[in-house]
Amino acid sequence: MHEIKKVKFKDKKQFYDYMNLKLTGLICDETDWLANLSNTSALLWLLLDDINWVGFYLYKNGELVLGPFQGKPACTHIEMGKGVCGSAAMERKTQVVKNVDEFPGHIACDSASKSEIVIPIIQDDDLKGVLDIDSPILSRFDEEDRDYFENIIDTFNKYVRL
Ligand code: SME
Repeated sequence: MHEIKKVKFKDKKQFYDYMNLKLTGLICDETDWLANLSNTSALLWLLLDDINWVGFYLYKNGELVLGPFQGKPACTHIEMGKGVCGSAAMERKTQVVKNVDEFPGHIACDSASKSEIVIPIIQDDDLKGVLDIDSPILSRFDEEDRDYFENIIDTFNKYVRL
């Protein structure tokens, strides 16, 4: 099995490069999409500091439905355009929310969540779902993280067909 160590990094680039490499190792030879979603959420949960939830919502019958995740049980259905996930899905645009209390319509699955990032998953121009990451601290994610996570999703899309 893949050994994944949590190590200290000198900067964000080094950290995200490591995460990208480990993600590639986990999913590149596995063809089962559900196994890959599950392992991706587990990897991010293991490596990311200061998060309280990470996982996927999948686009199904015009709404988002909870997929593989790590953290507390969460809401199972999210309407398009609702909350941070629904906005990312509808706009097909990553949402970086520094303070969830200031985001109109934020859906609080866990009251510990203070900031959040949601990255859409688009394959062949079709919306497939979103990756949602929540943090118990304010401003956990910035625009630099957004670019790195979009890169992580590019790697995911290269190997996983949803
Ligand atoms: N906060 C999200 C809902 C999902 S949970 O945080 C896991 C939102 O506003 O879309």
